[in-house]
Amino acid sequence: MVEVKRVGIVGLGAMGAGIAQLCIEAGVETVGREVSAELGEKARDRIGHFLTRKVEKGQLEQAARDEAVGRLTLTTKLEDFAGCDLVIEAIVEELEPKRELFAALEGICGPEAVLATNTSALSVTEIAAATTTPERVVGMHFFNPAPLMPLVEIVRAELTAAGPFETAYAFGERIGKTPIRCYDTPGFVVNRVLIPLLNDCVRVLDESRVTPEDLDTGMKNGAGWPMGPCALVDLVGIDVHVHASEALYEKTREQRMAPPPRLVAMRNAGLLGRKSGRGFYSYD
Ligand code: CAA
Repeated sequence: MVEVKRVGIVGLGAMGAGIAQLCIEAGVETVGREVSAELGEKARDRIGHFLTRKVEKGQLEQAARDEAVGRLTLTTKLEDFAGCDLVIEAIVEELEPKRELFAALEGICGPEAVLATNTSALSVTEIAAATTTPERVVGMHFFNPAPLMPLVEIVRAELTAAGPFETAYAFGERIGKTPIRCYDTPGFVVNRVLIPLLNDCVRVLDESRVTPEDLDTGMKNGAGWPMGPCALVDLVGIDVHVHASEALYEKTREQRMAPPPRLVAMRNAGLLGRKSGRGFYSYD
């Protein structure tokens, strides 16, 4: 096992920023990389906003908030990950850019550093295969919104060694998550169940002609879901959900994995959910 003193996060979108927030709150020096300084600053503002809300609600001391924000260093250069013991990748959900990134990280990070991917539906093994040290590549799959959702799936790829795997597991616990150990099977555990389930929900919308509001009310009040399926797909992002569905369908060939045409049409029209201001619902 490696003692993680410094962590790197590649990509500070909704997931990367959420993971960075968890790390700095847990007292870990964190280097966050975005492709431009502006995007980095935007992520820092987002993190600062959520930590300020915690102060306002009495969940965090102002001094602790400021110290946490001070632990985040922004960069645009991968070379700044040289001193990191663990790097967590949260870039675009496509195989080739991830493979290129891992090949580059391998040449920058020390030989003991653990390289983790937050991929939700791609193969960790295929990402690891872009490196010559696949034994130190592992999946750390967080859920959206990362600061609020307790789970992290720790994914063992074909060649992941025990040390890096347990390092990732221990780090998940250290930043306050509930980790589970799983293998590199399509969708791991939760998405293998959740993605076809959400696709079913969207198909039910068309079959039963209910409104998104009524479907959401139904699942919240009849099945105990914390939020309805339409609100959840809006939160995850219609594009992200369609992409994950396509990736799982490609691997399993199960019809329920395939994205419903309604979601594909929404994605094509730019109705991406909360992030674009409109999906099943409208957002300010
Ligand atoms: N990052 C950090 N903090 C956040 C945040 C974010 N993205 N979003 C909200 N918060 C903070 C806010 O400060 C908020 O408080 P204020 O509104 O007072 O500022 C605080 O958290 C609480 O927010 P809510 O009142 O909205 O919290 P809630 O009690 O209603 O719970 C929830 C919200 C945890 C999202 C809950 O609705 C829930 O569990 N929903 C289900 C989410 C889910 O299933 N996620 C999994 C998606 S699938 C996935 O991620 C897999 C994949 O690979 C695609």
